[in-house]
Amino acid sequence: MCGIVGYLGNGNAYDVLIKGLHRLEYRGYDSAGIAMVSPAGKLNVFKAKGKVENLETLCKDKDTNATIGIAHTRWATHGEPSDTNAHPHYSEDGELALVHNGTIENYKLLRDVLEEHGCTFHSETDTEVLVQLIEYIKVKNNCSLLDAVREALHQVVGAYAIAVIEKNNPDTIVAARQSSPLVIGIGEDDTFLASDATPFVEYTQNAVYLKDGEIAVIQRGEPLKIFDLDNCESKIDVKTLELTISQLEKGGYPSFMLKEIFEQPTTLRECIRGRVVDGGRKILLNGVLDNKEVFKNAKRIVIVACGTSWHASLIGKYLIQEMCHIPVEVEYASEFRYSCPVLTKDDIVIALSQSGETADTLAAVKIARDMGAFVFGISNAVGSSIPRETDSGAYIHVGPEIGVASTKAFTGQVMVLTILALAIAELRESMPQEKVAELGKHLLEIPELVEHVLKLDEEVKRLSLIYTYARNFLYLGRGYNYPVALEGALKLKEISYIHAEGYPAAEMKHGPIALIDAEMPSVIIAPQDHLYEKIVSNVQQVKARGGSIIAIVTEGDSVIRNIADHVLEIPEVPECLSPIITSIPLQLLSYYIAVNKGKNVDMPRNLAKSVTVE
Ligand code: G6P
Repeated sequence: MCGIVGYLGNGNAYDVLIKGLHRLEYRGYDSAGIAMVSPAGKLNVFKAKGKVENLETLCKDKDTNATIGIAHTRWATHGEPSDTNAHPHYSEDGELALVHNGTIENYKLLRDVLEEHGCTFHSETDTEVLVQLIEYIKVKNNCSLLDAVREALHQVVGAYAIAVIEKNNPDTIVAARQSSPLVIGIGEDDTFLASDATPFVEYTQNAVYLKDGEIAVIQRGEPLKIFDLDNCESKIDVKTLELTISQLEKGGYPSFMLKEIFEQPTTLRECIRGRVVDGGRKILLNGVLDNKEVFKNAKRIVIVACGTSWHASLIGKYLIQEMCHIPVEVEYASEFRYSCPVLTKDDIVIALSQSGETADTLAAVKIARDMGAFVFGISNAVGSSIPRETDSGAYIHVGPEIGVASTKAFTGQVMVLTILALAIAELRESMPQEKVAELGKHLLEIPELVEHVLKLDEEVKRLSLIYTYARNFLYLGRGYNYPVALEGALKLKEISYIHAEGYPAAEMKHGPIALIDAEMPSVIIAPQDHLYEKIVSNVQQVKARGGSIIAIVTEGDSVIRNIADHVLEIPEVPECLSPIITSIPLQLLSYYIAVNKGKNVDMPRNLAKSVTVE
């Protein structure tokens, strides 16, 4: 997590950097800071605890005149959120300032050595070690900033995206990456760098994604230069961004989360476009079509993911097992990487990640590749690390998701997993062609059905008022809707800070039922599927213990309507396609409860959208 941004050009660096920080705030927002070299040759560093707006307030009466600068928005790893621990950090002699996203694992060791050489540290961060080390090398070797950065990075173990500026050189930024993302924007007279392209999309569409182990030198009036850690110059590969400004704005909605919930009919259409064609009779997923033999012969699929993406992965397991009859395992990437995974060449590993940058998922990808498995990446962020590190893959194409709580990315992921399952089923002939075509046809109808479900908005809003002050919630579902229960509970807890547990409805008898009383509402996802009768009895079990029930049911349901306290009706849809539909009312419910409680739904406390640390 943490977002970094840098600017060198003819314009006002402060304006570009502050705007850029706002765009990157989803990556962390416990403190922010900026460093600029003024025309008078002063290195001005300003830092403030809290959101970027606090930094703006601090800078109001300060000298912010500069055409070069770097900035940072933090999600604390080493050291509490405070002005002192905020980035940029600077060297003791005030010559260098540096911003960093990542974690320096051997910082303690390096700090001890530097202290022995007389360095004094002011913060508790791992980052300060890096800037002091670079300056120490620069002075000791009397070398350029580039050489000092390179030498320092040889001594560092960990993950980083960094940008460094020098007081005495207002014409150069040196930046580097290892495991944390960094992209450089090349304008006509200006160069930008950032953790993702959002801070510079309005200035240029030309982007260069730095690779692991690369150092970039941005020099005023010179073309961009990139070197590896052995100082060999790399080829510059300029990509054109597929991003627009309107995708980064709220577009009249009070929050990004609500905008993203309501965008889902459109984003799902984008996700299906060109992949489910000929009225649903043809499934075209390039990542599968280009690797037919791999998908035909796979003996097992392992899906690795974190957070909401892990919930989508569980739905993927149900889909692939039902449609393709291939055993599927779903692993938390953070556990997978340390679980002595056993993979063979017959395994396909699917890495599912909205950001394409989650550190644990990325690490799992590397392990899987090293073990010889075929790795298929499913991601949203074009050009991010996971799509670049995998053998093949598919984008979910839902556009930038800015609200920290994932909504449209979740439904996009489920959609791509459904298309993937259908594509594999077609290839392996594990499902009759007519059945594939029938599901393909239903898949094309999903965006419209989502539009229909979104009409529950007012009803959910009213309902939310009844439950705003509940302290605990239980979410129950079975089969395809068990992962939806997990996701519904996660949505509620992450933005409203109400404790919520998702559970397979039948498992409730083995523990959570003890918690049920009049104070503990249950949200039960109970569409008319092959487990309907079973879930009806689970609903009765909750009711018998005095718990109130909000049930998501199929339109026209009369049985649960008579037992539950509230029902939210969704249209009829094939069971395997139901999660996209059933998750919508749960998104709305968590949203309105959080809003009723006055919470900042787009930036919930302690969370970050892109988790680039372990
Ligand atoms: C964070 C985000 C979640 C996301 C998870 C995995 O926790 O807040 O919304 O699901 O990371 O992120 P990824 O980008 O890999 O899907």
